[in-house]
Amino acid sequence: MPFPVYVRNIVKNSSRAEKLCCLVALPVLITCVTLIVLFAVQANNNPEALHSVTVGLKEPWYLRRGDWHAMSPHRIEFLELPVSYVIIGHAASHYCNQLYPCIEQMLLIQEAFMRRGMNDIGPNFLVGGNGYVFEGRGANVLGAMVTSWNKKSITIMFMGNYVVDMPDQAQFDHINVLLDVLVKERVLRSNYTLYAQCQVKPHTYAPGRHITERMKNFPHWNPVNISGCLI
Ligand SMILES: *[C@@H]1O[C@H](CO)[C@@H](O)[C@H](O)[C@H]1NC(C)=O
Ligand SMILES: *[C@@H]1O[C@H](CO)[C@@H](O)[C@H](O)[C@H]1NC(C)=O
Repeated sequence: MPFPVYVRNIVKNSSRAEKLCCLVALPVLITCVTLIVLFAVQANNNPEALHSVTVGLKEPWYLRRGDWHAMSPHRIEFLELPVSYVIIGHAASHYCNQLYPCIEQMLLIQEAFMRRGMNDIGPNFLVGGNGYVFEGRGANVLGAMVTSWNKKSITIMFMGNYVVDMPDQAQFDHINVLLDVLVKERVLRSNYTLYAQCQVKPHTYAPGRHITERMKNFPHWNPVNISGCLI
């Protein structure tokens, strides 16, 4: 029996009450299905789903927010991934090269940023002496370092003031390990470009001459506008 004939037979053999029931049930069913489809489409459109990306680094020198007892951020905005740039700055804070003094510095730096009305500590990641790398805002969170670049870059700060302090090789090596992981996890494009902060914000010191002199330690460094860096 063809489908339309089958349906006509059912309708003919149904009572008034049954027909009325159907008439009410049909729009409800259609609404439900539409809503389910809409929710499914919306969930798929959320870039990276709306949560923080946890970097899959399991090294004794890598400390997540929980490890350094970070305060909760006031607000989180997410980056659209992948991004194409990495900006290197410094905190212009006290230098540290041991775990607990560096954790203490992290707490002081976060407090200073939030006291100035920021949502959280500024950069995505920070690095202390001896290569202790700290999760700052995190991998896919919009950072606060150079206004016009925040939406398109991952920002990393050396802890200390490298106009006077000296960086060590572990700091460069561990940042490069972190950046490789960020490429693997599609936070960064594989052809990303890395700049010192003073290259994109001319006539400033950050990250300090002892780092800008050693930018060749970063394979993705582009030296354009390095003359804008004060020494
Ligand atoms: C990097 O790769 C993307 C595509 O993956 C391309 O659109 C972009 O132009 C490349 N950028 C550079 C600087 O080569
Ligand atoms: C380098 O400087 C030129 C001229 O001021 C500017 O147009 C360009 O955007 C700068 N490049 C970067 C990466 O900031």
